[in-house]
Amino acid sequence: MRFAPHLLDEIRARLPVSQVVARKVNLKRQGRELVGLSPFKSEKTPSFTVNDQKGFYHCFATGEHGDIFTFLMKTEGLPFPEAVEQLASEAGVDLPKEAPRNPEAQAEIDIRDRLYPLVEAAARFFESNLRSGAGRNALAYLVRRGLSEETIRSFRLGYSPDGGSDLKQHLVKAGFNEREIVLSGMAIGGEDIRVPYDRFRNRVMFPILDLKGRVIAFGGRALDSDQKAKYLNSNDTPLFHKGRILYNAHTARQAAFDCGSVIAVEGYMDVIALSQAGFRETVAPLGTALTEDQLALLWRMAPEPMLCFDGDAAGRKAAFRAVDTALPHLKPGSSLRFAFLPDGLDPDDVIRESGRDGLAALLGKARPLADVLFEREWGDGEWSTPERRAGLELRLRQIVAGIADVAVRNHYERNIRDRLFHAWRAMARTDATYSPAGRAGAGAPGAAARGEYASISQPFLKRPHGIGDGRKFGRPGLPGAGPLPAFASESLKRSSMAVAQGSASVARESLILKCLVNHPYLIDEHAEDIAGLKLTSRALRDLRDAILCAHAEEKSLDTATLRSHLEQLGSGDTLLRIGQLMVHRSDCFADPDAEADTVREGFEDLVALQQGAIRPTRPPVSGA
Ligand code: UTP
Ligand code: MN
Repeated sequence: MRFAPHLLDEIRARLPVSQVVARKVNLKRQGRELVGLSPFKSEKTPSFTVNDQKGFYHCFATGEHGDIFTFLMKTEGLPFPEAVEQLASEAGVDLPKEAPRNPEAQAEIDIRDRLYPLVEAAARFFESNLRSGAGRNALAYLVRRGLSEETIRSFRLGYSPDGGSDLKQHLVKAGFNEREIVLSGMAIGGEDIRVPYDRFRNRVMFPILDLKGRVIAFGGRALDSDQKAKYLNSNDTPLFHKGRILYNAHTARQAAFDCGSVIAVEGYMDVIALSQAGFRETVAPLGTALTEDQLALLWRMAPEPMLCFDGDAAGRKAAFRAVDTALPHLKPGSSLRFAFLPDGLDPDDVIRESGRDGLAALLGKARPLADVLFEREWGDGEWSTPERRAGLELRLRQIVAGIADVAVRNHYERNIRDRLFHAWRAMARTDATYSPAGRAGAGAPGAAARGEYASISQPFLKRPHGIGDGRKFGRPGLPGAGPLPAFASESLKRSSMAVAQGSASVARESLILKCLVNHPYLIDEHAEDIAGLKLTSRALRDLRDAILCAHAEEKSLDTATLRSHLEQLGSGDTLLRIGQLMVHRSDCFADPDAEADTVREGFEDLVALQQGAIRPTRPPVSGA
């Protein structure tokens, strides 16, 4: 909705910024301005100022700047129209209702205006029933599940009686007609149902609120275990579209702003148990997979929402699915994290078994989306043939291509390449089938490789840690250069560099550096490996150090800039000699015009070779 500028001005005129800000920040007068501790970051000395004359606030610590509307948007996570509505009503400014475009639209608005009070009346009816004799069992059930009186009240839990039409009769008495009651989802009716009857019978009732805190629907949990559906939700109605709503979003939004994160769990009871344990920033979808709308809502609450799904196959599947839903929408700085629970437990169980701290510990081990994606695709780790490896690589590339944001996509491409590079290398080291020299000593061919990497297929809590803790794949437990010879690509075996010995090793080292100068993005990607290379030639070591030095000063260099840095650092001569290096046809990946993929493959092989991971499979051939 667009708001007329004069109305916004009117609201601004009636509400001083300091009055709106004072709800969140203790302000002290200092000259013309008021100052306080920034609500945007934690600080000890005030850097947040408010100027009522000019009508804005400014935070010197974070650069945040704005008026009363942006203040509400930023500190309460409200969208603009809601911030305007809220402040308008505080200021006593009437906002004109949006003019409906056609009679149907008007009818839709009218019916919604009828349904809000209807479902609110239902919520009150359920609440009072929970406190009546009929609700005795339901209340006992909630208490048995560990809910405090305060929790039951704040979530407005209730009980729907078993009669079949108790609610309907109550609502009719309150002035609502049957058509409206059916439309609200509270009763089931239709052409072949002459007398509509209550949808929820003998259930514990969980009201579902919209972002403004209005009741719009319900979830109901069966009390007797032979009910077909353990949980029943309202159907979609003019007020409620289950894919667009998250349970508890209204309360969690504020809590999420305060703590900078938000947790998504699977069930109503999980939300309530977590909230009671102090994680008030918890929400849940309503019995379906997370939708794009729900993800967008989560991202409005915090940059890296935490998904904490049940520790069973279904929970894992839900997490994997969320990865796919999220990928196209990833933005710089906004992603998801995944906390995996022990087998068979849901978050509510974890709280009951090991308390707030137990859950906090699991949340602390949450894993980034990129990890979860890679492990999902890695699966059972049966990647023993080139074709399967190529297949995995292709699939990962296709998935990553679905990321719309270019910057994030580039980083994913790099990240995946890195993981595969290390994974293949690690596998090769432990897999005797790849090693002509190692075959003699190998027992079951291929078993070692599976041993090393099969663990990725069951990463969830079965592994103590390592892969999931943000380090590169292949690093934990893998020495820089393993004792076993590894496989070399066919082109590499042919390369003059593969058979380097004596002065030829200098040639290989030169080729590595030449490759870096012609393709400086390799420095970003492999700085660590480059720094660790053992180079025999003093001049080349100096050049390598100069390259790293230039890179430390300026990331993402292009060749021309890099060259001029290197010349300034006194490596001009070495550079010149490298340029004159004789190259074998198979080493053309180092040339300036080579394709990035070819470059990377050649370079990575070369580095592995230099690190001692690969031994030539043929004796040196003179003149190669
Ligand atoms: P769960 O079966 O994991 O239930 O369903 P729970 O949250 O652990 O429930 P308790 O602890 O036994 O009470 C998770 C969510 O899936 C939806 C509900 O939203 C539920 O909270 N669900 C589940 C349904 O919609 N229908 C069902 O029959 C079951
Ligand atoms: Mn449960």
